[in-house]
Order: sequence, then C-alpha cells, then structure tokens
Amino acid sequence: MDLAVEARGLVKKFDAVTAVAGVDLQINKGEIFGLVGPDGAGKTTTLRLLSTALEQTAGEAFVLGLNVRNQEEAIRDRIGYMPQRFSLYGDLTVAENIDFFADIYGVPKGAERQQQADRLLAFTGMLQFTQRRAAKLSGGMYKKLALACMLIHTPEVLFLDEPTLGVDPISRREFWRILYGLKDVTIIVSTPYMDEAERCNRIGLIREGKMLAVDTPDAVKRSVRAKTLEEAFINIVETGRTPG
Ligand SMILES: Nc1ncnc2c1ncn2[C@@H]1O[C@H](COP(=O)(O)OP(=O)(O)OP(=O)(O)O)[C@@H](O)[C@H]1O
Ligand SMILES: [Mg+2]
Repeated sequence: MDLAVEARGLVKKFDAVTAVAGVDLQINKGEIFGLVGPDGAGKTTTLRLLSTALEQTAGEAFVLGLNVRNQEEAIRDRIGYMPQRFSLYGDLTVAENIDFFADIYGVPKGAERQQQADRLLAFTGMLQFTQRRAAKLSGGMYKKLALACMLIHTPEVLFLDEPTLGVDPISRREFWRILYGLKDVTIIVSTPYMDEAERCNRIGLIREGKMLAVDTPDAVKRSVRAKTLEEAFINIVETGRTPG
C-alpha cells in the first residue's frame, strides 16, 4: 500500500506534559483522515510533528516516505499545513494573499501560477471577491481563502488543524464540498465536529496523546454498538472501553 503518512511510536513531551504518547498511524494516499478528540488530546501536536513544525521526542514518522527527522525541507515542499490559528494578511486582498503564499512556497511567477490561482479562486467560489481585503471577508470565505492559499503550490498532503472552527454549518458544508473536490491530495484534518468526522474516509480517535481507535466512522460506531459517532466517542473516551 502506498502510504502518505506513517508514524511509529511517535512521542512528544513538553517538560512534564506528554502531548503525544506513542502514536502509530498509517494513512493511505488519497484518504481524507480525521483526527478527532477532546481539547488537549494532542491533535495539534500530532499535526505539527507530521508537518515538521516540531521535532519529536521519540519514535519515527514519515510523510510520502520522507523522514520528518531529517528530510524537513523535502517534506515542506510537498505538503500544506494550515495551523489552528492560521491567519491571512488582513490588509491584503484575496488575490494578493494568494500571490503572497505562492511567493513563500517558491511557485515561479508566470502564466501557469496565475492559472492555478484563478482555478483555485473559481473552485472555492471566490472569483468575484479577488479585490476584497481579507479582513473584510466573512468567516466562511476567510477559511476558503486560507485553503486556496494552502493549495497554490499543489501539495500532495494537506494538514488542516480545525479548519472550520467557528464557521456556520452552511459554510462548513461548502468547505467540505471543496475538500471532496480536491484530486490527488491526501487530507489529514482535525475537527471537533462529529458531522465532519462522519465525512472522513477514516478517523483516529485521540485522547491524552493516545490513539484509541482508528477505523471508518461506521466501523468505530459498530465496535461499541453506538448509533452515532458522538455516542461511540463518549463510550470509548469516558468509559475507557476500547473497541474490538
Ligand atoms: N508548546 C507547548 N508547551 C507546553 N505544553 C504544550 C505545548 N503545546 C501543547 N501542549 C500541551 O500538550 C497537550 C496537547 O495539546 P494539543 O494542542 O496538541 O491538543 P489539541 O488536541 O490540539 O487540543 P485543542 O482541541 O484544544 O486544540 C495539552 O496538554 C497542551 O497543554
Ligand atoms: Mg489543537
């Protein structure tokens, strides 16, 4: 199987706090994988380790077969990482923000780059807002622009940390429609929303830095005889019941 992400015994400690406590994970190319868990579960730390923003305390992780420990540059060229508190440049317009990120990612200036920008703006429904300042966008549009900025260098793996937090349900559905429309991208997304977890091909339930269950949403529900994912998560997290 062609893996986009692989982690073995991944650990991250911050002094006394063990944020990630030995995570094993295999994510296939082309999957939408959801990282689901309560506040402080270790979702952000896991995403930061995988996207080479942080160095692990122990264990191994590979992205597209590249080692996060010593192949950071090669990994960064091929991934997009939207942090939890991602911010665009409010004074720059939609088009200028995309241009800015294209520069950061070293996308050569020219017709091809412009085509990719236009394609992303059309795809995200932002074409008519190219001259609007980012600070003036609605919450949902702001997130769509952030996504477009993450896609300008055509990454193969996209790490999205709670990308729709605080966005209304309609805009969240729209955001997911866009994610589904992306081709040839593996998406690892953390979310506090159960309806979004349901939309993932597979999910990993994380708590206290440990992966409690990794499977399709349906299989996770079945494993603890729950009707909804929410019920399944409460069963697994609060009663400490492990699936199987
Ligand atoms: N830079 C840091 N220094 C010290 N402790 C940290 C640091 N980053 C995270 N932690 C701790 O590690 C644990 C996991 O945090 P993390 O941010 O990964 O959780 P999370 O699942 O993303 O939570 P949330 O849903 O609130 O975003 C928490 O106890 C947190 O306080
Ligand atoms: Mg977080």
